[in-house]
Amino acid sequence: MRHFLSLKDYSKEEILEIIDLGLKIKKEFKEGKAYHYLKGQTLAMIFEKSSTRTRVSFEVGMYQLGGHAIFLSSSDSQLGRGEPMKDTARVVSRMVDMVMIRTYLQESLEEFAKYSKVPVINGLTDRFHPVQLLADYMTLVEHGKDKDLCVAYIGDGNNMAHSWLMLASKLGFTLKIATPKGYEVDKSVLQEALKFAKESNATIIVGNDPKEAVKGCNVVTTDTWASMGQEDEKAQREIDFQGFMVDSRLMQKAREDAVFLHCLPAYRGYEVSEEVLESKNSLIFEEAENRLHAQKGLMVWLDKKRREDGK
Ligand code: CP
Ligand code: NVA
Repeated sequence: MRHFLSLKDYSKEEILEIIDLGLKIKKEFKEGKAYHYLKGQTLAMIFEKSSTRTRVSFEVGMYQLGGHAIFLSSSDSQLGRGEPMKDTARVVSRMVDMVMIRTYLQESLEEFAKYSKVPVINGLTDRFHPVQLLADYMTLVEHGKDKDLCVAYIGDGNNMAHSWLMLASKLGFTLKIATPKGYEVDKSVLQEALKFAKESNATIIVGNDPKEAVKGCNVVTTDTWASMGQEDEKAQREIDFQGFMVDSRLMQKAREDAVFLHCLPAYRGYEVSEEVLESKNSLIFEEAENRLHAQKGLMVWLDKKRREDGK
């Protein structure tokens, strides 16, 4: 049975298949043909961190597919009182058809998946945010930006940077990452990406110079300087990230047709300027909407795989 814990477990063909399926379901939905591919199914959504997009997109997505979603936060489930992931997994997965989890450690998510009887989806961990990347890539495909693709990621070497590393190295495009010194991507994630990049012919460049990174790129992206769980480091990070804001001056150094992506929530005047965020090249709200469509594709794909595997 397939889970969706990281893009590293997925081939290029599978990633593109999920995105194509999401696009097909999006088209059908926009044409008023809403097929209930997951009729009568239940998705459990476990949140140990805050969310707007992930919660709304999964809940609405499951409803539109003919199913139902249950929201469980750690503060009002027994997880918050210390019930282990492996027990929660064995209980919840006997009652639902799919589980989405947003938590801190990738290892907690993996433990849940190990004990789960149903597919488990990563709704963000400290290490990866793979469902966001499905939506991001879908948006680039819709805008024809996937041809001759070069993505510049500016900012923190966090879960989004790691997810871009996985996507680029699997699909075989160019990714240039610029982080402040001391905020580089995790070495083991980078090593893994470089290994995949050899097979896919991806070009991966990591450095500390935003201007160098955006040169020749048709996509510029960034993320918050202080992720969930790093609230105490916020003040120090604001000092250390000086010079890393994506503003119009930086965008001008990218390719003329460059678009801007951000997983959101965005902090104006920090990782991105108001002007870039609100510019005509900013695709952020289409990107956010595509969370819904891409994840519908993912859920239908996982369900199909599960049936094929006879589970
Ligand atoms: N981009 C994203 O995952 O947003 P939320 O934290 O609002 O879910
Ligand atoms: N890096 C951010 C992404 C939020 C969607 C975080 O983990 O908080």
